[in-house]
Amino acid sequence: MKFRSLASIALGAALTLSMAACGGSGAGSGDDAESVPAGDAESITIGVAMPTQTSERWIADGQAVKEGLEALGYTVDLQFANDDIPTQTQQIDQMITQGEKLLIIASIDGTALTSQLEAAAAAGIKVIAYDRLIRNSANVDFYVTFDNYKVGVAQANSLLYGLKLTDKEGKPAADAPAGPFNIELFAGSADDNNATFFFNGAMDTLQPYIDAGTLQVKSGQTDFATCAIMRWSQEGAQTRMENLLTSTYGGNGEGLAGVLSPFDGISRGIITALQGVGLGPNLAQGLPVVTGQDAEIASVKLINDDVQFSTVFKDTRKLADQAVIAAQAYLEDKQPTANDTETYENGVKVVPSYLLEVDTVNKEDITPLLVESGYYTAAQVEAGQ
Ligand code: GAL
Repeated sequence: MKFRSLASIALGAALTLSMAACGGSGAGSGDDAESVPAGDAESITIGVAMPTQTSERWIADGQAVKEGLEALGYTVDLQFANDDIPTQTQQIDQMITQGEKLLIIASIDGTALTSQLEAAAAAGIKVIAYDRLIRNSANVDFYVTFDNYKVGVAQANSLLYGLKLTDKEGKPAADAPAGPFNIELFAGSADDNNATFFFNGAMDTLQPYIDAGTLQVKSGQTDFATCAIMRWSQEGAQTRMENLLTSTYGGNGEGLAGVLSPFDGISRGIITALQGVGLGPNLAQGLPVVTGQDAEIASVKLINDDVQFSTVFKDTRKLADQAVIAAQAYLEDKQPTANDTETYENGVKVVPSYLLEVDTVNKEDITPLLVESGYYTAAQVEAGQ
């Protein structure tokens, strides 16, 4: 991805700033940060375990974390696991036996790493959960992520805005149509802790409209387990949407106004199914409103082309930056600063967390939020890659 080099420049600058301003503005320790002498840093290897390369966001995350750590002089062992749990556990086992000093992990299944983390703790290795909480373990030291509940709220608000029930800020629209609007709901992978947060945030926001009869989930499928898409799969989402179109919308999508989607890959699967029965091809020509998450370039192009309605932008540069700051704190025997010590109970303990804010992106936000910040170039948006 072209934005990598820009991202790394921004990351380097952000890191310098956050290190200098250490205390309050980031996950860095409250003490004056003393950098590890260059020679020492090089001999320290940090293991970075990412879930998959099939979604571009994780490639960008992995790269940004690697570049940030390398900029501080550390050696980085970056691994991707093809969304395969045994591959990820094996990679982490190996990082531990190779004597790596700290682990940054975006898990595939948040409940599958208990024994790996036990081994890490026994070896004195700190573990930072990256974006996804690792559950059922006392040995997760820190968690860097976005405010996942708010992501779900943002997705639901965007669906309401797309249906013209609210304005862009979420206030009820003065001339709101009475409805009722038929919608369908999708959730992420059930083994990913984030998926529940997204769904709960969205449902808390949509429920009053469902109770009032303004929104109807015509299929009746409203529980998380039924709406969940294993491994956030695009194909899985397409299949579920095709089944819903057949079972509930006469095979041609008639009467379907919007679909809550928690991730751009899922959104693209949904859109393919909708277009496949003749809906659209764009919003102006009747394609239902579909939300998303991650500002993946393929979806940003669809938004630019008036096909996908919105996405929630999680700036992976900022998340990587926080992971690097937290890692640096641990490697200097300091404690990273959390800004949330209540929300992320992992089944054993509350994991101190650093949460970042997100932005919703509609077509008019692409330039100011994604292009002007250097996340993508205008040419990438145009090309969708
Ligand atoms: C979640 C993450 C989302 C999205 C999804 C699919 O854990 O928070 O932003 O990336 O995984 O990869």
